[in-house]
Amino acid sequence: MEAQLEQLLITAISDLEAISDEASLEAARVKYLGKKGDLSVLAAGMKDVPPDQKKAVGQKLNEVRTTITEKLESARSTLQDAADAQALVGIDPTLPGRTPFTGGLHPLTIILDEAVSALRRLGFAVAEGPEIETEFHCFDALNTPEDHPARNEKDTFYFDDGKLLRTHTSSVQIRTMEAAKTTPVRIVAPGSAFRRDEIDATHLSSFNQLEGLYVDENVTLADLKGTLEFFFRCMFGSETETRFRPHFFPFTEPSYEIDILLKASGKEPKWIEIAGCGIVDPAVFEAVSKSRGDDLFDPERVSGFAFGMGLERLAMIRWGISDIRLLIENDVRFLKQFA
Ligand code: DAH
Repeated sequence: MEAQLEQLLITAISDLEAISDEASLEAARVKYLGKKGDLSVLAAGMKDVPPDQKKAVGQKLNEVRTTITEKLESARSTLQDAADAQALVGIDPTLPGRTPFTGGLHPLTIILDEAVSALRRLGFAVAEGPEIETEFHCFDALNTPEDHPARNEKDTFYFDDGKLLRTHTSSVQIRTMEAAKTTPVRIVAPGSAFRRDEIDATHLSSFNQLEGLYVDENVTLADLKGTLEFFFRCMFGSETETRFRPHFFPFTEPSYEIDILLKASGKEPKWIEIAGCGIVDPAVFEAVSKSRGDDLFDPERVSGFAFGMGLERLAMIRWGISDIRLLIENDVRFLKQFA
């Protein structure tokens, strides 16, 4: 029987090495290892082997089975490798994959995030207020008299109940101080503002502003200048030059318009207006105190500064965008440049 096993092994090896496809692989498996295969037939003869040889013959039988199983396995993996290689013919698996388009942030969102994070570094917290405002919060409390042009019916969207779409985010100054539990107050309020402006390359009737307010004891013009110079350097680079030009706003005294020096390559440097600011007018603190009914914002005790600017304008200056309407048209060819 040992001789038969030896013979079987020799034939099997040469058979298995000649395997060239799935069919011959399966045929060989059935022929040698199948229930009625050669090895099973020989194994059935174990019962006739004399007892003293059983151990040796049994071992031989196992060796032959192991060898045949291994050979079958290696033939199977050789076939698989060949099939894999065949499947890759004409394909270069080292080419980079196609990255799906995942979209990007809108330029206004980018500017907003940067502006808010620059001011957060100075301790300003984000504040909010309603877009549909009362005349009190939008105008009266901000020391803006009845006959001020900003209150003109032709310039502002009024509702029948006397409320209006806020014409600036400065109303959040009042809302914040009314709700404050303590001073100092240090807030940045980004949000929409609305005006009945004719839409053109530099005006929209619905746009976005960024308001800032800092109230504490002994706040000075130096604090205002330092804060805004830092802010504009964060937004436009560490070389950015700013200029504070005297101006008038009802809710600040003194008031300034801020210009930054724009140095577009190939052009003469040019000062352009970018924001309004000033020292909070005591009349604003008085209005807030009256509305609160306490003296947390007593103008004898606190002082403050405020500033406001258009977010669209910041974006237009940053990227040299010449028409504000590009920011609301959602033309992917435009927006893709910021993604
Ligand atoms: N509210 C002003 C506007 O819409 C901008 C502004 C100017 C805000 C001066 C301020 C400020 O807080 O101090 O044109």
